[in-house]
Order: sequence, then C-alpha cells, then structure tokens
Amino acid sequence: MQASGPDDEAPGMKLTSLLFVPADSEKKYRKARETGADGLILDLEDSVAPPNKDTARAMVAGWLDEASDGPALWVRVNALDTGLTLADLAAVVRPGLAGVILPKANGGQDVAQVGHYLDALEARAGLPAGGIRIIVVATETAQAMFNLGSYAPAHPRLAALTWGAEDLSAVVGSTSNKGTDGDWSQPYQLARSLCLMAAAAAEVPALDTLYADFRNEAGLLESCGVSRRDGFAGRLAIHPAQVGPINRAFAPSAEDLALAARIVAAFDADPGLGTIGIDGKMYDIPHLKQARRTLASVQEG
Ligand code: COA
Ligand code: MG
Repeated sequence: MQASGPDDEAPGMKLTSLLFVPADSEKKYRKARETGADGLILDLEDSVAPPNKDTARAMVAGWLDEASDGPALWVRVNALDTGLTLADLAAVVRPGLAGVILPKANGGQDVAQVGHYLDALEARAGLPAGGIRIIVVATETAQAMFNLGSYAPAHPRLAALTWGAEDLSAVVGSTSNKGTDGDWSQPYQLARSLCLMAAAAAEVPALDTLYADFRNEAGLLESCGVSRRDGFAGRLAIHPAQVGPINRAFAPSAEDLALAARIVAAFDADPGLGTIGIDGKMYDIPHLKQARRTLASVQEG
C-alpha cells in the first residue's frame, strides 16, 4: 500500500476542526453534533474517570451504531501503556468509526501496533481493511520528542499528527508551559514546531493543539491565524464556541483562492514552465503545490 497524504484524502476526511467530547456525556455529544465541527473526538482517555470507562465505551458504541450523517466520529483511546487500549478498540471498531486518536504515542512503531489491532478488529467487524484512520498526538512524552522523524514514511492509516503540551509539561516537570507573554515557552514551541515538521515529512496534515481559554474568541482567532500561517491545517477544539472561529480562521480567504487559481492557471497553460511572475512576485513549483492544496481544501466535503 502507498503512504497516504493530504493529496489522496478519503472523502469526508476534512480535519479543520475536531471537537473533543467526553465520551460519558450524552448531553455534550448531542450538542457537539450541531456545532459544524468536521469531526468529533469522543474521548475515552483523560476526560473520563477510570470507573466510567466501561460505560463510556458502551455509549460510544451506541452513538456509532445510530449515526449516519453528521460530523465524522473519531475516538481518543487510552494510551498503549495503560493496558486499556485494546478493550477501547474492541468496543468502538464498528461501522461509523472514522478513526482513532492515539495519545502519548512514542513513535511510528506505536502506529504500526495500533494498525495491527485495527487489522484484526476490522476483519472481525466485517469492515473494509485499512479504512479506520489514526491521528497521533505526537509530543506527549519525553521519548516521543526524539522519535518524531519515525512517522515518515507514513503508515497508510496515518491521517494527521497533532501535539499536546499538558502531558509533556507534567513529565518534563515544567510549572508552566507559557511564558509571561502568554505564548508557549521555549520547550513547548519546540514540540509544536517539530510536530509540524514531522507531519510535513510524513506528508500528512498537522493539527494545532487546543486553545484552553475557551471564552476568549479574539485570542483563539489570533492564535489560529498564527497556526495557519505556520502551516497547520486545522485545530482541536474543546468547547462548541471554538468551532466556528476555527473553521473561519483556517478557511482560505477570497484573495488566497483567487491567487491560487491564477497560479494554477498559469502553470497549466504552459507545462514547460518552472517559474512565473504574478503581480511582481515569483512563484515556482512549491507555490504551485501549495496553490493546488488551497483549491482542494475548499472542494472537499
Ligand atoms: N462538547 C459539547 N458540548 C459542550 C462541550 C463540548 N466539548 N463543552 C461544553 N459543552 C456544552 C455544555 O454542556 C453546555 O451545554 P448547555 O448549555 O446545554 O448546558 C454549553 O456547551 C456551554 O458550556 P459551558 O458552561 O460554557 O462550559 P462548561 O463549564 O459546561 O464546560 C468544559 C467546560 C471544559 C468542561 C467542557 O467544555 C468540556 O467538557 N470540554 C471538553 C473536555 C475534553 O474532552 N477534554 C479532553 C481533551 S483535553
Ligand atoms: Mg492529555
């Protein structure tokens, strides 16, 4: 099988906004479906207390069985070192599951391991082989930071990489992961940047981590602007109020689309071209790829 990337995404795989929903909350699940999020992350990990894990697994199974249209349904399973992952997967691998979010992953070998579990569970459920995708939270352990190159070439199930600062802070022993200016402090900027590079190397989208201050819409919009300029394709959300701003912030503007269309048209008009000038600026093959990606992003689901 070929490595998968942003250019051959399955339909319905839009990942601009993924909203976390604690998987033991029926009320939040119902509300989350109406937010316009591309996907919901039904969380079996840290937002569900250990005594509620079984109930949460059963609730997710019920939601998957009843859902037909609406946002793509992803499930964040418990980390591989908890011993809970297989039981999580056994409960949720069924029709309707778009994919799983793997927290505290330590590198490409963890994707391969979950991939093997999914191979078996898909066969048991009579699902097409390889259909269930994996999004990795790639920076939550110290070891993970040294293995970020191992996601490339991408496992065929790998859909995206994202990163997290909270669990990493806990293992590193940081009393805060923010500087006095409110921005990520140096160790967490490193994690964020390396996640972006790792995703680019694996040719999958990078999704920026959540913005915790969920009542601060202006701050979220500004932060998403930075994410988008840096190259992130979307973002995790924790509250319904964050979904609209994230979708708006990552959508290409009318000017972006017009320029992308001009770049593509200019190259299409002359297949021998390697570089062109538009309005006094130079564009070459990397710009053409970027322009095609911009146009494709508004044509998907
Ligand atoms: N999905 C769906 N609905 C949500 C929601 C979410 N992630 N977060 C909040 N809501 C709902 C609330 O239930 C409430 O509904 P109501 O108006 O019908 O009562 C409404 O949105 C407003 O919520 P609000 O009062 O502003 O927030 P809260 O104090 O109830 O919840 C959190 C705050 C952080 C607990 C909540 O946003 C949440 O559970 N987020 C997800 C947490 C998570 O999954 N974390 C794991 C990844 S880090
Ligand atoms: Mg966590």
